[in-house]
Amino acid sequence: MSQTDTPQLNKQLQRFQPSAINAIFSLTNRLKAEGIDILDLSIGEPDFNTPEHIKQAAIDAIQADNTKYTPSDGTKALKLAVINKLNRDNGLSYTPGQIVIDSGVKPLLFHVMQAVLDQGSEVIVPTPCWTSYPGMVMLAGAEPVFVSCPQEKGFKLQAEDLEAAINKNTRLVILNSPGNPTGSAYDTEELKALTEVLLRHPHVWVLTDEIYEHIVFSDFKHVSLVAVEPGLYDRTVVLNGVSKAYCMTGWRIGYAAGPESLMQALLKVLSQGAGCPSSISQAAAVAALEGPQEYLKDQAHIYQQRRDFLIKRLDAMPGLDCNVPEGAFYLFPSCAGVLGKHTPQGNTLNNSADFVSYLLEHASVALVPGSAFNYDPNFRLSYAASLTTLENACDRVEAAILELS
Ligand SMILES: Cc1ncc(COP(=O)(O)O)c(C=O)c1O
Repeated sequence: MSQTDTPQLNKQLQRFQPSAINAIFSLTNRLKAEGIDILDLSIGEPDFNTPEHIKQAAIDAIQADNTKYTPSDGTKALKLAVINKLNRDNGLSYTPGQIVIDSGVKPLLFHVMQAVLDQGSEVIVPTPCWTSYPGMVMLAGAEPVFVSCPQEKGFKLQAEDLEAAINKNTRLVILNSPGNPTGSAYDTEELKALTEVLLRHPHVWVLTDEIYEHIVFSDFKHVSLVAVEPGLYDRTVVLNGVSKAYCMTGWRIGYAAGPESLMQALLKVLSQGAGCPSSISQAAAVAALEGPQEYLKDQAHIYQQRRDFLIKRLDAMPGLDCNVPEGAFYLFPSCAGVLGKHTPQGNTLNNSADFVSYLLEHASVALVPGSAFNYDPNFRLSYAASLTTLENACDRVEAAILELS
């Protein structure tokens, strides 16, 4: 039988692996199901529950039979809530035609890429980057261009590196702040340096993923890139959602705001490829965006206490080196100092994946290797977990490191 006689799959799929985080999630769950006491710091979702007033809005929506298809770009009520939110929190002004609601930021990213990328388009992805960006770019037939943002530069994209990466094929630049996996967030001055470069390249779209906006520490204030440089308004799409701030990961609501030309293209993609987000979740998201916001600060304060606790513990462990991130709920320490060492089983640790496997097998602590984010030798640790869990995990990691020779 010749190869053409067998059904073929999308060739782009050969270019990337399934999300490494999903693989760790499945493995961790299997080990837990086998009765192993895993301390799971691999998960990127808040350990708090959805607030009561948000749940009640969903119950009310069900009881009011608000259970039918909505417009594919979202309900009018949620679009208005998003417009108010962007005005209130970010100083940005949009009309309903410039807002699109989707089933989370993850599908929105995918759909925006379908709307703006062509075969061979280049997308600038600062690394370390969230695992899903490169695969989405490739599925659109485009090319990710990774720009390394080293730890000593706070894992932040430098203006000169951005300038050097842009060429005539560049279609899109992705900026995620506060970022996954590093927690690094750009202040106004840092954004300004990037916008000066972007202004010089009018053929480039800009996408800002601001999903961790409300998880920032001390007196850091999240700023949206397009608020820093309104000259980029006509070619910037802002993505945000309710998953992280409002503890609604399972509800699946995200939103995009941008110029109408892009939103029309996005709508075309959605109208054929997505249907609409859940009507009940949209009602709940209205309550999230319009209800009380004060608890967001309390939540951020709890994350900050965990961050500070962890940094102190990790920095005291031989071989680890940790940055102090401005936001999100991740640390991304370097494990360069343990590479080359041997485990009690006689295996050599050659990279962060070896180190993370050792900790999973030997200390029952689940983490994510830096390779999942295109950056080594670091690993991601999520502190969306109680202080007790973090304390126990640190004890186990420390003991496992001390067993290395
Ligand atoms: C940077 C980043 N963007 C987007 C998402 C996905 O968000 P959503 O739950 O809205 O799909 C995540 C989730 O981990 C993320 O870390």
